[in-house]
Amino acid sequence: MSNDNHIWNYESNENDALAKQVEKDADICFTTFEMAKHLIGRITFKDGDRVMNTSFGKGAFYNQLPNNTKNYYCEINEGKDYLEQDQMVDITLDNPPFVPRKLFWSFMQKAMDTTTREIYWLINIGALNVFTPKRLNEMKDKNWFINGLYIVADKRWYGRYVWVKITKENNGLIEWKNGKPF
Ligand SMILES: C[S@@+](CC[C@H](N)C(=O)[O-])C[C@H]1O[C@@H](n2cnc3c(N)ncnc32)[C@H](O)[C@@H]1O
Repeated sequence: MSNDNHIWNYESNENDALAKQVEKDADICFTTFEMAKHLIGRITFKDGDRVMNTSFGKGAFYNQLPNNTKNYYCEINEGKDYLEQDQMVDITLDNPPFVPRKLFWSFMQKAMDTTTREIYWLINIGALNVFTPKRLNEMKDKNWFINGLYIVADKRWYGRYVWVKITKENNGLIEWKNGKPF
């Protein structure tokens, strides 16, 4: 993994434990094939669904997608920038770059604009901080809602991770207060 392009650079923003590990071993940020298989197994795909894996990495998600779906991927290191394409899909899924948060939110905005049914992100549980009331309102305006939080862990990673399921139905899982802080 290269940090040369400054588009995705762990050092640029967060001073967390994972960032320090990534400096020593960039491969640590890739999802294991076992975890990706398990998370994909929780999704109900329909025949012919268009599926986008936003960042291929080493292929843990993309290479294990069903073969009755039409699968797409991006990966900045292969010159395929997710943010610079507009492929419409039914399902978007990934362990995306979730640091810095602004980059992750650009992924989220792109996914909301190019996905018809479901979005799944594997992010650090601390990265849930990205879902500020303002951003939750932005999602609501576009008719997207957090609909499930499935907690997982990888012993290489610090803390828990969460497979965030985002759909067009508001099941009331997440509520928030809009006004000034208490
Ligand atoms: C946390 S790693 C995860 C890789 C892979 N999704 C996985 O689960 O193993 C994030 C990946 O996002 C890629 N990336 C960063 N910015 C990108 C962009 N704008 N478009 C596509 N890929 C990007 C990085 O090169 C890196 O491979």
